[in-house]
Amino acid sequence: MTAYRSLLRQAPLVWRSVQQRPVNLALQCSRYASSSSGGREKRGGFGRFAGGLLVALIAGGAVLTYYPTTTNEPPKNREAVIEYEKPRPLPETKEDSRDLISSQHLQVKKSWEHPGVYCWGSNSGRVAAPDSTDTVVKTPRRIAYFDGQLVRDVKLDKEFGAAITERGDLVQWGTGFSKENPTPTPTLKGKDLVRIEISRDRIIALGKDGSVYSLPVAQSDQGGSTQSTSSSRSFWSNPSKINYRRLKPNGLGWGESVTNIASGLEHVLLLTSRGRVFSAASSTSGFPSKGQLGIPGLTWTARPQGPYDQPHEILTLKGFKISQIAAGDYHSLALEQDGRVFVFGDNSSGQLGFEVEKEIPFVDGPIPLPFSKMYRGTHEKPCVTSIAAGGANSFFTVDATRIAMPNEDPSGTRDVGRVTSDVWACGSGIWGSLGNGKWTHVSLGPSKIKALSSLREYDEKTNSVVPIRLAYMSVGSTHASAVMKNVTRVGASDKTSDQDTNWGADVVWWGGNEYYQLGTGRRNNIATPSYIGPLDGGEGDAEKGRKDETHRLQIAPKTTVRLGEGGKGRKATVEQRVECGRFVTAVYSAP
Ligand SMILES: *[C@@H]1O[C@H](CO)[C@@H](O)[C@H](O)[C@H]1NC(C)=O
Ligand SMILES: *[C@@H]1O[C@H](CO)[C@@H](O)[C@H](O)[C@H]1NC(C)=O
Repeated sequence: MTAYRSLLRQAPLVWRSVQQRPVNLALQCSRYASSSSGGREKRGGFGRFAGGLLVALIAGGAVLTYYPTTTNEPPKNREAVIEYEKPRPLPETKEDSRDLISSQHLQVKKSWEHPGVYCWGSNSGRVAAPDSTDTVVKTPRRIAYFDGQLVRDVKLDKEFGAAITERGDLVQWGTGFSKENPTPTPTLKGKDLVRIEISRDRIIALGKDGSVYSLPVAQSDQGGSTQSTSSSRSFWSNPSKINYRRLKPNGLGWGESVTNIASGLEHVLLLTSRGRVFSAASSTSGFPSKGQLGIPGLTWTARPQGPYDQPHEILTLKGFKISQIAAGDYHSLALEQDGRVFVFGDNSSGQLGFEVEKEIPFVDGPIPLPFSKMYRGTHEKPCVTSIAAGGANSFFTVDATRIAMPNEDPSGTRDVGRVTSDVWACGSGIWGSLGNGKWTHVSLGPSKIKALSSLREYDEKTNSVVPIRLAYMSVGSTHASAVMKNVTRVGASDKTSDQDTNWGADVVWWGGNEYYQLGTGRRNNIATPSYIGPLDGGEGDAEKGRKDETHRLQIAPKTTVRLGEGGKGRKATVEQRVECGRFVTAVYSAP
């Protein structure tokens, strides 16, 4: 028992690094929010571990094991359970010791040693696991082709996958690409691509120089270069055999170029470096007809002469400097740099979030979505900081700043200036993808995702309580994920103590799970943000005396490291990223 005590005493260092945030985010938040005193003592004591991870420490053969609650259950009384096990060899090196005390440390390390692409979800089109005939892939699995590789972007449909290699070449796979050979195959090369988007049947790719390419998904349609409508430029610069089209916005200013793209099933939005937005048809199977182009009156029959997929400037947005764009299947979002959001396109599930007296199924020109309404009576001033969309859903992150009200009693204005970060969702909720715990078909205006809103953490550097924001969201057809912008740690080295471990960023998942795309290993849909287990199924955890189901996936933050086993490979800047697609999900190592 004394051994156990002394272990506890030296534990805080360990706890801090192993147990980054309790599983129940809301719990954490209220704990931090409810106390304004310094963070020190909050680190100590068992309360700190509420809902946390399992930690196994080895002391003379006794294993102190802490079992947390799993993601969806309400917190129960927790206690440390002492189990006696066979003595294990004591760790020989600092790294052994770190791997032993922290699953998170091990996860970060593995991401550097074995970069690549993990996939799960539907495999009916051989996308999640091209080499396997399984119809679903229930938990993260590596795609062997990408082993050791960094990829710039990944996009996934149930029938096809697409990725950009570190050198900027396009790689495609899945039966939608080729029934005969669904394994990953390089297609469009030499274009220095930086980003891809997918429509129902085409890939829209953005080059580093701002060129936008549109090419068919199916290999059989990519055929001979003779009918290529590519510009004569590609004639001398390393001609590509793939048949593609260029999407070229007209009238770009001097030095203005396309900097981002966002595609739905039939349309694509193009954002330029000057904050202008263009839209174009992005599929050959259907011309956008739900207003998602943002050009009133533009239909297949009324379209102007020239290519059907020529980009049109969204004139309603002219004069606003747009900083972000997002597209769901049939709707569009644009965020102005000052925090104003514009929405247009399909609203049949309420994905535009905008309430009007008379419901209209779609809106064919951008309309502002007023967030001030959602904050009426709160003494807070909202500013939308990011947007995301997918399927029939829209998401917004909002920084709400506490302001002093004209007639307010000064004693109540202590927290004037305090910023709260909130996440709002609207659209279809039948799969749980609103993340608000409800299963509604149609949303009547945005609702807050409580588990991701008003979160706070104590920042040691500034000695203050700061909001926890999202790093970004990825939204698929029916499921979504959010990567938390939490304090991460990658500085453990030979020079720091063996209790100093690395940890990554938390990532939560929710929504449809009909093809196991949430990665929980089970098939039930989930209507609130939840953790999933680590990649490699917590492999290595068992031998370390830890139970995998008690560990959560964290992803490694951006760092410059030496890749490969034992850090003996090439030096690279790398981060893990999350991608929710159409019933398929990936985590990949990006440069
Ligand atoms: C987020 O940061 C806070 C404070 O630094 C910490 O208490 C919390 O556990 C962190 N979580 C993660 C995942 O880093
Ligand atoms: C969008 O749909 C929702 C749900 O039907 C409705 O409440 C709202 O008024 C609609 N907005 C517009 C602009 O049609």
